[in-house]
Amino acid sequence: MKILGIETSCDETAVAIVEDGTKILTNIISSSKELHDKTGGIIPEVAAREQVRCMIPVLNESMRQCSNATMEDIDAIAVTTGPGLIGSLLIGVETAKTLSFVSGKPIIPINHIFAHIYANWLTEKKKPEFPAIALIISGGHTELFFMKNHHELRWIGGTLDDASGEAFDKTARLLGLGYPGGPEIARIASEYKIHNTKYKIQRLPRPMLNSKDLNMSFSGLKTAIIREVARLKQAEQFNDNTKSQLAYEVQESITDILVAKTISAAEQYNVKSILLGGGVAANQRLTEKMKSGIKNLELNIQSYIPSPNLCTDNGAAIASFAYFHNHPVPWKDVQADPDVEIELES
Ligand code: KG4
Ligand code: ZN
Repeated sequence: MKILGIETSCDETAVAIVEDGTKILTNIISSSKELHDKTGGIIPEVAAREQVRCMIPVLNESMRQCSNATMEDIDAIAVTTGPGLIGSLLIGVETAKTLSFVSGKPIIPINHIFAHIYANWLTEKKKPEFPAIALIISGGHTELFFMKNHHELRWIGGTLDDASGEAFDKTARLLGLGYPGGPEIARIASEYKIHNTKYKIQRLPRPMLNSKDLNMSFSGLKTAIIREVARLKQAEQFNDNTKSQLAYEVQESITDILVAKTISAAEQYNVKSILLGGGVAANQRLTEKMKSGIKNLELNIQSYIPSPNLCTDNGAAIASFAYFHNHPVPWKDVQADPDVEIELES
């Protein structure tokens, strides 16, 4: 079964064709990231205008790369209907509805947050085994799920305030770095060890690290960083060296929390797999720590982390999720819903 996946929830215009939920035939992602670099965040109208410009070329290129496929070759159309920016979502949704109307192919609306986890069915030769713990870490979400199988899943914890991606983005803005913040923080954090810094910044907190539950909190980090930046500025020590130290520390704090809570969930639920998904899963330090945490505890758990271009928003994960959760609806009933929550199938 070939599914065309369309994703336009944020600044990407992404289209993919995936066979049987696992084989990527084509995966095109056009991002307007550079346009948002200077502003330190996305300006929704700028993103949407760029997506209007890119949608048809990206769709055409996907079809061309898939042996010049036509809609005749496609079995269903999957599209992100939420959550996301309304102007951006509408571009993907209206494109999908038009394709469905013209071709008569079914349309499957997708909540893209959960679809992030399905990038793990696209990259690994060995497919994830259930039961599993899924950690979704994106710009707006940080959630832990217990997955008994594809259809039985339960929310077991998550952030009580900011998402982990938001913590990266806000720190980047405070340090005068571009958008998205995660890769920028990771880049300057990697420079930290080579500096011979005289000025040591304070160790940042690890909020809720030792709480008994599986919840997390990241908003205190922003406050701690604001305080540290003010202290550095007053001491005339706010420079590239101390910025990279701060970036290193914030990355350590965020990844410590994510790893501890995920491994704790995996032990409690006695799972076979840990699945990561969402933009923050592209963080290399997180990958290192997750793998060594599992190894040090001698847990018999396989961790799955998608390749970086499948961690961030893409159409392939949308198409894969649609294959395993194939619930088509008439095109007239498909609506963009920017604030949709993560719904669980019962
Ligand atoms: O999943 P995603 O592409 O879009 C949303 O659904 O939000 O995630 C975007 C988030 C941003 O907060 C971005 O800073 C973060 O993922 N991110 C990273 C990295 N790459 C992207 N965070 C840490 N390290 C990275 N390498
Ligand atoms: Zn996303």
